[in-house]
Amino acid sequence: MSTEYQHLVLTENSADKMEYKRMITLAVEKILASLDSGDAYKGLTPEKLRERVHTDELLPENGLGFDAVLEETSEKILPNFLRPFSTSYMAHLHSSALLESIVSELILSTFNQSMDSWDQAPVATEIEVEVIRHLCKLYGYGEGSDGVFTSGGSQSNLSGLLLARDWFCNTKLHWDVKKLGLPASYRKFRLYASEISHFSMEKSTHLMGLGYDCVVKVSVNDAMQMDTEALEKLIQQDLEEGNLPFCIAATVGTTDFGSIDPLDTLAGIAKKYSIWLHADAAYGSGVILSDKYAYKVKDLALCDSITVDFHKMFLLPISCSASLVKDGKNFECLTLHADYLNREEDEEDGYINLVDKSMQTTRRFDALKVWFSFRARGRNGWSEIITRFMENALYLYDRLEKSPDFEVAVKPEISSVVFRVLPGTGVKESADDMNKRIRRKLLHEHGVVIGQTVCKGNVCLKFTLLNPLLTHEKLNELLSLILSLR
Ligand SMILES: Cc1ncc(COP(=O)(O)O)c(C=O)c1O
Repeated sequence: MSTEYQHLVLTENSADKMEYKRMITLAVEKILASLDSGDAYKGLTPEKLRERVHTDELLPENGLGFDAVLEETSEKILPNFLRPFSTSYMAHLHSSALLESIVSELILSTFNQSMDSWDQAPVATEIEVEVIRHLCKLYGYGEGSDGVFTSGGSQSNLSGLLLARDWFCNTKLHWDVKKLGLPASYRKFRLYASEISHFSMEKSTHLMGLGYDCVVKVSVNDAMQMDTEALEKLIQQDLEEGNLPFCIAATVGTTDFGSIDPLDTLAGIAKKYSIWLHADAAYGSGVILSDKYAYKVKDLALCDSITVDFHKMFLLPISCSASLVKDGKNFECLTLHADYLNREEDEEDGYINLVDKSMQTTRRFDALKVWFSFRARGRNGWSEIITRFMENALYLYDRLEKSPDFEVAVKPEISSVVFRVLPGTGVKESADDMNKRIRRKLLHEHGVVIGQTVCKGNVCLKFTLLNPLLTHEKLNELLSLILSLR
């Protein structure tokens, strides 16, 4: 038996423990050695990278062994990773991972709990239940609320919208979709979301058998928030035409602008027409932890379901998200008992099988990361981080607003700033081409990765400020660099 074969898994055996420690220590050393500059990316083009990673065989006849593959990893992969922790990275709602959360990942991977049934994750189940209970409280939910961890904002949105659809069918149409499939009137179902809502709205309605056409896009105002008057008109028009409005999906932190739909007014409209109100707070959910700015999202408590993403503003490793529901009984639509897994008698005897609320069966113990970092940093530590993101965005906005070289899309509500560079006098290149060129140049020649989007038909650049190490000086430097590439 080869040495490699002996070290298959971690056990109580001291030789396995030593090998576990050796492998992790070696990997940590390689990771640390690869961090040789503050750049966000080494700059390789897609062709160069493809060449670099090409291999004739993924599965060699005989294994190369851990040490050799780690060496190969440190030559080919580690130097070319995008570094989300770099202050030169601000392209997407994609953050670095807090140090303690990387350790939580190590712990949860080591023990590899599966969250579907209590007997696969006894303490992990109880921790997830506890974390969900506190999250419901944090967002202002009361008795009877519930939630579950998911793979990300898209799945949390799908979960919320699915619950909305089934609630509507059960309570308004007296139709059990779970058993019977969609009712004959399904093509009349309508979900309202702003024209700049995330595409997981359409993906969800497709997956739910309702199709993209079910999503009614509501216009936004100058602050990029859903226009509530336009919404009400659309609902009334749909009702007159015999359509079936079942859900309003508010965005609390739009992907590009971070704008927040007016939840208070939307809750009034939802109540008036008996419609489910879902909040896609994948981005904005983090604002609740800023003592100074939490007021901006306090009305999340008015929504029937909330998407919270921990792998965006909360700086936890991918993946980590939660789907919260004001009335936990609605999760019943995801419950199905299997003799081998989640027996009804378990529930009667106090064993919680979290699969009863989840679209996934096997599922990661992501709740550990929230538990660990909330307890490690506390309210004050968290408030400082989130407030800093938001104040950096206000600083950047102020700088851009005052400069004749830039045009800013909208004042930031959270931590994203969309703007474009204006061509200098005598420049022939169009503003769109110039902004695109600048972004590519930053990526391949300067180790700087920023976002690009379109606002009112114009190509714009985007800074998504989710790095707690970012300073005003660094922002000034980046603006000067951008102008030097004009
Ligand atoms: C507003 C919004 N909702 C949902 C999502 C999807 O989240 P995830 O990428 O975690 O699936 C995103 C992603 O950026 C988002 O910006």
